[in-house]
Order: sequence, then structure tokens, then C-alpha cells
Amino acid sequence: MKGIILAGGAGSRLYPVSKVYSKQLTLIYDKPLIYYPLSILMLSNIREILIISNEETIPLYQKLFDDGSDFGVRIEYALQTAPNGIAESFILGEKFIGNDGATLILGDNIFYGNIDFIYRAIQKNEGATIFGYRVNDPERYGIVEFDENGKAVSIEEKPKNPRSNFAVPGLYVYDNEVVSIAKNIKPSARGELEITDVNNVYLKKGMLNVEKIGRGVAWLDTGTPESLLQASNFFGVIEDRQGLKVACIEEIAFHKGFISKDDFKKLISKIPNSLYKTYLEKVLKEN
Ligand code: TTP
Repeated sequence: MKGIILAGGAGSRLYPVSKVYSKQLTLIYDKPLIYYPLSILMLSNIREILIISNEETIPLYQKLFDDGSDFGVRIEYALQTAPNGIAESFILGEKFIGNDGATLILGDNIFYGNIDFIYRAIQKNEGATIFGYRVNDPERYGIVEFDENGKAVSIEEKPKNPRSNFAVPGLYVYDNEVVSIAKNIKPSARGELEITDVNNVYLKKGMLNVEKIGRGVAWLDTGTPESLLQASNFFGVIEDRQGLKVACIEEIAFHKGFISKDDFKKLISKIPNSLYKTYLEKVLKEN
């Protein structure tokens, strides 16, 4: 299974900061936003990852992650020349995906809590697996409707009259067919290749599995100044309380055995003096 992080976009709701840099580089408490979706892929044992973004931002991601080898993963980069829609990921990623399946996470989506459901979904996926998460403001999201047996019967993008409160988060698991499906859909009225259109193709074929995520998991999306602040506060509280970091990719690489203890030591030695380094030194000492 290959992993893709879509991390370009216009970020217009974050103007004026979006004039100079990408939303996914903004700070969520103590680390750039993109660390959070990257950590989700790593925690789900996905070690081949494509980051898709625009010309200005790719070099900055390369500065952060290089080829991923410091973190025991392989990271490639692909250019999206304009925000042409989420489904374009699979066209841009065709070569990278090869004959594998692809798990896509949006660069501004954060999951926190017991996320084993993602790993399990990847293991048993046939066709497509997407998720449903209860939200208070369904008009803002792709919304999935379930029948009385809990089977998904429709997905509507930003409906005026939502048929449920279950939004589809920016995390999608697909088999290899997603590449040809993405190539065959047409841009929507807003000129984007819509992920909902891809999901509807799977739905029509009876190959779409929608798993409800329980309330014990936090799904945060971070498109507005308010939601960025909420996410920062959320992780600030948790990290301060536990003395453990969330989405610390260096720690994850070490704990999952993607890198050896020696590699971890070397990695720490390259980090300038900071609370982040002190934290990693503590992790090293305790293990
Ligand atoms: P959105 O939140 O839909 O869009 P955006 O980030 O451009 O922000 P705004 O609506 O304020 O203009 O995007 C969701 C995520 O997907 C975000 O991480 C950016 C990314 N994205 C792309 O990289 N390319 C695309 O073509 C689209 C539609 C989104």
C-alpha cells in the first residue's frame, strides 16, 4: 500500500498568510501541520509516501523530510500545478502508485486517539474504504447517507439539506483501480476533479465501504484561523498533560522500528538545541 499526502491547495481562508506560505507548514502547537497526516501514514505502517504540492512549497517539504530516510520511510514529491481537485492526486501519482493500492490523506487533516481502525481498514480493503465522522456542521463537508443496515447509499458534496451528520474525512483507502477511475471523471462545476465523484463510482459498483469512526477519535480539519487555533490548543493541552508528543515523526520512526537506535541517536544529534530535541533525548534515554 502506497501513501499520498495532498498538501498544496490555495489556502484562501488563511489569507494573508497563504500569500507567502502553505497552510500545511503552519504551526500546530509545536510542529508543522503536515507532521500530523504524515504521522498517521507512518503509524499505519505505510512507508512509501508521495507528497503532492505546488512549486513553491515542494522545496520546503524537501527541507523538512528530504527523501524520508532519516525517518525510515521513502518520500517522493510530485507537482500539482494548480489546485485542480483532490482526485487529481491519483493521476499525478500514477507512476508512484504502480500496481499497488493507495491511501490518500489530505495535508490539513488530523486524527487523534485510537487510530488502529485505519490500519485495519487498509488490511481488509477491497475496492475503496472511506470513513464517516459525526459533525455538527454537515453543510461544510461531503456527507454520507446510510440505510437502515448501516450501508452507505449516497455521498453528497456540501449539501444544503444534509441527509445525515456523517462527514467524510480527508482519508481514503483505494485499490489500484482508483487511477483509472480518476482519469475518467470530469471536472465539476467548480472546475475540480472531485473525490466524491471517485467515491460515487465505487459506490455504484458496490465496492465502497464506509466505516464510521467512533466518538473517541478526534478528527480535526484545519482550514481556518479558528480551527488552527483550536487544534493548537488541543495538542498543547494533551502534550503538556502527558509529557508526550503527538505526531512526533522521529519518535514514531524509532518506536515502530523503522530506524535503529543508532540512527535515532544520529538524527537527534542533527537537531539544534530546542525543546523538541530535549524531548527526543528523553525518548532515547527511556528506551
Ligand atoms: P481545501 O481545504 O479544500 O482547500 P485549500 O487548502 O486550498 O483551502 P481554501 O479552501 O481555504 O482555499 O483543501 C483540502 C486539502 O487538500 C488541503 O490540505 C489542500 C489540499 N489540496 C490540494 O493540495 N490540491 C487541491 O487541488 C485541493 C482541492 C486540495
